[in-house]
Amino acid sequence: MTAFRLAFAAIAITVVAAVAGSAAFSQMMHGHGGGGGMGMMHDMAGMPGLRGTDATQEESDELAVMFNGFQTFEREVSLLDDGIRTVTRSSDPQVMEALVSHVSGMIGRVEEGRDPGIFIQSPTLDIFFARGDAIESDIAVTDEGIVVTQTSADPEVVAALHTHAGEVSDMAERGMHAVHERMMRGASN
Ligand code: HEM
Repeated sequence: MTAFRLAFAAIAITVVAAVAGSAAFSQMMHGHGGGGGMGMMHDMAGMPGLRGTDATQEESDELAVMFNGFQTFEREVSLLDDGIRTVTRSSDPQVMEALVSHVSGMIGRVEEGRDPGIFIQSPTLDIFFARGDAIESDIAVTDEGIVVTQTSADPEVVAALHTHAGEVSDMAERGMHAVHERMMRGASN
């Protein structure tokens, strides 16, 4: 499963490298909003990387809604000694709905050790699916947004929670651009 994901990442990076530098590439990277033209790249049809080896269509669609609507997110992260507390909200009710479903669904998967194998997912997630028992999670939907508190007694898990919270913030701020950059960084390590 991991090998497949890495193979996919290598293909994605090759494609990105092939078009990098062209006007079309820069339009694709900045043409968010799905208004047409290269902006369509960010509709589900243009984001095959949101599929997974064990993900439902609904889960992939939710990710597409969030990536398409990333500009509507606001997020605050507190790094705790033993974990994280995050507050995330979207000004768009549909994006908010996808976010709530994503967070509860993914944390449920972590608790059950069911890795969705989303092609573009961060390797930071691996330890969560391997050591889900070591994480205490609390989710509350409030007026402020969805409040997620996750703690652990395992220092490696705590470090991964901190890293992942930063990765989520980056995706909420920059959408797919954050993912492409992370994948390129991974390839050069
Ligand atoms: C715009 C993109 C995304 C947003 C806004 C988002 C949002 C979130 C939020 C708010 C959390 C709760 C933890 C936290 O607040 O730091 C979370 C957890 C999670 N997300 Fe995402 N996510 C995005 C993309 C993805 C992708 C592409 C995957 C790939 C599988 C993914 C998988 C997960 C998993 C597995 C968790 C649970 C982690 C844990 O239990 O510690 N997310 N996401």
